[in-house]
Amino acid sequence: MSNYKRIASLKTADGFANYVETVGVNLQFDRELQHGPDSPLGRPYQLDGFKIGNRFCILPMEGWDGTEDGKPSELTVRRWKNFGESGAKLIWGGEAVAVRHDGRANPNQLMSSDGATADLENLRKVLIAAHEERCGSSDDLLVGLQLTHSGRFARPNDKKRLEPRILYHHPILDRKFNIQPGSPCLTDSEIDDLIGDFVKAAARAEAAGFAFVDLKHCHGYLGHEFLSATTREGRYGGPFENRTRFLREIVAGVRRDAPRLMIGVRLSAFDFLPFKMGDDRRGVPEGHDGFYPHAFGGDAEDPLKVNLAETFQFFDLLDELKIKLVCVSAGSPYYNPHIQRPALFPPSDGYAPPEDPLAGVARQIEVTSELKARYPQLCVVGSGYTYLQDWLPNVGQFYVRAGKVDFVGLGRMVLAYHDLPLDVIKGARLQTKRLCRTFSDCTTGPRNGLVSGCYPLDPFYKEHPQAEQLKVLKQQLK
Ligand SMILES: Cc1cc2nc3c(=O)[nH]c(=O)nc-3n(C[C@H](O)[C@H](O)[C@H](O)COP(=O)(O)O)c2cc1C
Ligand code: SF4
Repeated sequence: MSNYKRIASLKTADGFANYVETVGVNLQFDRELQHGPDSPLGRPYQLDGFKIGNRFCILPMEGWDGTEDGKPSELTVRRWKNFGESGAKLIWGGEAVAVRHDGRANPNQLMSSDGATADLENLRKVLIAAHEERCGSSDDLLVGLQLTHSGRFARPNDKKRLEPRILYHHPILDRKFNIQPGSPCLTDSEIDDLIGDFVKAAARAEAAGFAFVDLKHCHGYLGHEFLSATTREGRYGGPFENRTRFLREIVAGVRRDAPRLMIGVRLSAFDFLPFKMGDDRRGVPEGHDGFYPHAFGGDAEDPLKVNLAETFQFFDLLDELKIKLVCVSAGSPYYNPHIQRPALFPPSDGYAPPEDPLAGVARQIEVTSELKARYPQLCVVGSGYTYLQDWLPNVGQFYVRAGKVDFVGLGRMVLAYHDLPLDVIKGARLQTKRLCRTFSDCTTGPRNGLVSGCYPLDPFYKEHPQAEQLKVLKQQLK
């Protein structure tokens, strides 16, 4: 195992600051936390006249726990209730909802359909009711729905069987995920149809009362794959303009058919080479010689470095399309999770961290700050803060206070300690026993056919029948 220091052992601000310096990353934080409605994290944000009540955002977190026909289960409802109770005033999409069956990441992913619209509306209502009960008013709560097609990582019918819908043959990912060289790519006319499905799903989201939809462009799924489809021919590949046609056409359709809906985009703002497990279990980059044009926001000459030239172009496009809501993420949980969700403990199929996870956090924060500085008019949500654990509020407060990000997004932390935002804003002591310690069981579970949840820390999942299965499974995998 790595000798990276555990965050829980960094008990003082000096201890944390010294360790950050030892790791050699640029990560700043406020030593004193402020609280109350005028504090940096408690203060509202104005989005085109709508007041979003504070600076915490719940990131989309799926649970692999919907019904086979794409509707929420009791577990899904419980998670959304927790999102509402968190006290965060921006709900970025709830979780990934496939726009059609072949785009589901697993057979239990939620799916948009005429038959499921009332159920999605109910999820939203449960969230709002829980929020009102815990926090009073929901007048300043903004709730969106994330729409997706899982593309290369679709497993619509069997949790264990990939049924990839790809845009181009990728020199590394095809091999890594067993995609045969002759297998078909989505045709331009199939993409035209899919755009129609996104627009229909958005119209259903509007009917279900969501304020915005997130047109997901991150984590290696289809929207993200468009951005790296440099080697694809035809209307949806090659030059930047073609690679963003998918987004532009969906936006035009949504504006036409669901005009009251706002639009957001969650973006992997940078990407690197895929990684694999090295001899000592640590992640190492997959071998690749020469030019690598498949990491959007990465440096094609040196694909372990960030190069935001095209990301800036993408943000220019968002601005042109009058899309104000953007959530910054990175990479993919399938091929370089350490840049996307920094963790000390990998999931069962993962590699040990190749860098101190703080470096992964700092990289996302730095890129987000750079984007916010260049596009102050956009509402920018950051991701990847969970690994900061005890220091999350202090780091978050610094970056929001300094105007380097508008919202602190919470992913894994909301599974472990869902009402952390309320505690921070009211100035209560952090409940350190509930802090996510990045054990990755919420990923190990679903990677092995179980529902996701915080098995180690959430009392509900500790007692869940699948907790025992997870324990046995982890023993077997040791
Ligand atoms: C169990 C689990 C489910 C997730 N589900 C989604 C999802 O549905 N959509 C999405 O865009 N990201 C999803 N993510 C990524 C998170 O939103 C977030 O980007 C990531 O966990 C890093 O943030 P954190 O450090 O706060 O956890 C998921 C992550 C985990 C661990
Ligand atoms: S299982 Fe719980 S502690 Fe582990 S990473 Fe997920 S949320 Fe964090």
